Amino acid sequence: MTEGAGVTRAMEGQAKPQLRSAFRAMGCGEVRGIHRGQELRLAGWVHRRRDLGGVYFLDLRDRTGLLQLSVGPDWTEPQSLEVVKGLGAEDVIQVKGQVVARPPDARNAELATGEVELQVESVLLLNEADTPAIPVYRSPGEPLPAEELRLRHRHLDLRRPELLGNLQLRHSLVLAARNVMDRLGFLEVETPILTKATPEGARDYLVPSRVHPGEFYALPQSPQLYKQLLVIAGVERYFQIARCFRDEDLRADRQPEFTQIDVEASFIDSDDLFLWMEELMASLGEVAGIPTPTPFPRLTYAEAMERFGVDRPDSRVGLEIQDFTSHFRKSESTILRKAVEEGGRARGIRVPGGGVLSRKQIEALEAEAKAAGAPGLFWAKRAEDGAASGPLSKFLTPGVQEAIGMGPGDLLLLAAGPDSVTSPALAVVRVAAAATAELPPTDASGWLWVTDFPLFLDDGNGSLVPGHHPFVLPHPEDVGRLDGEPLAVRSLAYDLVYNGAELGSGSIRIHDAELQRRVLRRLGLGDEEIQQKFGFLLEALASGAPPHGGIALGVDRIVKMFLGAGSLRDVIAFPKTTAARALFEGAPSPVGEHELTELGVQIMPPAER
Ligand code: AMO
Repeated sequence: MTEGAGVTRAMEGQAKPQLRSAFRAMGCGEVRGIHRGQELRLAGWVHRRRDLGGVYFLDLRDRTGLLQLSVGPDWTEPQSLEVVKGLGAEDVIQVKGQVVARPPDARNAELATGEVELQVESVLLLNEADTPAIPVYRSPGEPLPAEELRLRHRHLDLRRPELLGNLQLRHSLVLAARNVMDRLGFLEVETPILTKATPEGARDYLVPSRVHPGEFYALPQSPQLYKQLLVIAGVERYFQIARCFRDEDLRADRQPEFTQIDVEASFIDSDDLFLWMEELMASLGEVAGIPTPTPFPRLTYAEAMERFGVDRPDSRVGLEIQDFTSHFRKSESTILRKAVEEGGRARGIRVPGGGVLSRKQIEALEAEAKAAGAPGLFWAKRAEDGAASGPLSKFLTPGVQEAIGMGPGDLLLLAAGPDSVTSPALAVVRVAAAATAELPPTDASGWLWVTDFPLFLDDGNGSLVPGHHPFVLPHPEDVGRLDGEPLAVRSLAYDLVYNGAELGSGSIRIHDAELQRRVLRRLGLGDEEIQQKFGFLLEALASGAPPHGGIALGVDRIVKMFLGAGSLRDVIAFPKTTAARALFEGAPSPVGEHELTELGVQIMPPAER
């Protein structure tokens, strides 16, 4: 495949004839057979130059794609021929020439412009480029330079058609989102970046105030409280393409600064919101060519954890976790029996046809279970002739095999213990086992609503922390348990899941000041702290707050999932590394003594922190 074939669906599908300017008639990637015979002026970067003994072929590149230029003594001015001889990668040129059909054997079906080329009459060198620190053109199969190098020279990396295409798709998705939200009656309102802390479970990025030394703004972890205030104020339906900032441990699906389609509305219940978001996602899916059949299936959190061990299951994976406890309660395996006696469960996955997996493959699955925190994975398999093998096989009496539906050729993978240990392990084993056994995907679309999340979680030290954030409405059926059994209280919080990734999260909110105070107290806040941190919210709730709710969808994650990109860094123009550094511009960076003094900030030596 040539580099040109990397021009993504987004670039080809969405390129509009909009690059016409004083320098050019159109974008390079827009030239087609219908332009044959036309005299065109074009401009762009020299992607690649090939010298075929006096005749030169150049690939000229701009945002819209690549076009082949042919340069030769019979049709190119002598001065221009000299210019072309000296051209190097990434030089910026303007060319004038005639669009001609390529001979049939020189056509390139992988390139949108592959049927034609520009026979160049004249070339103007607009700007010479230094030898690029990283190549933009790569020969087929040539690996990308190391990511750190690419992030350091981001302006060059972004010239790659793949990355430009990603930005283009991102633009189209955000544009479509704005249009859908507008159609649904939502107003885009900007909320402050210099704010008071809003709890979303991460650390805040703080900005010292010069005018008020010792005081700090927080960058918003999300516009959560502002959007609630806006609908309380009467905006009714708010949305924003909102930038959020979180100082948290970074993973492949997290950036310290990211973008949400942030949504809030009054006088709604979750069904209204699901309908709107399904309409939104269907529109975005259409832009990106992602099947988005609506309505999306719904699953409660409890059911998701029971069947899939995770609150964001990939519904295309056809294996499910089952509870086999009753079959192992009296097991002769001491470990199994003990795990059950101690209140745990024996849960597992029956892999149809998994009996063909080798010991090595099964050990790889066990390694995944261990990496996810389980002490181990029990297993047994049955050959097609019915013979059972594996460490668990001696405890699998024919009666148990029949009860759990384990037939010839099947594999059973089992974990025993508390759900908090077995669920995460079985969740990864479920996906890995299906892949190893090469099971076909289900016919599920991958889209899912997960509802009824717990209102509170145990932080591991016996204290309650919010399941999502402190403004989520307890499930009306569970309000009576707030004091006695807080961990059993469900909430009206929901997540939007696609192919196993959480794309969005939201809830119906508390709109009653007293209930809000009660939940904050339950989270261990004293009345004074409540007043100091959330006094403004309580005042607003008490001012006639309508019932309301909302959601925030992660733009970066949506684009990444739609593109099947490996990292959020591939869909953000200037991303941070996993060490939260911006390598291109070099941030964060030290500031001078003078600025620190003005801010009243003193830097402690590392040893004292
Ligand atoms: P939450 O914190 O779940 O909810 O975030 C909503 C969505 O934002 C995206 N997201 C991220 N994307 C990239 N990097 C990150 N570090 C990151 N953190 C979150 C995810 C996630 O689903 N205020 C609430 C929403 C609400 O209740 O309406 C909120 O921010 O796609």
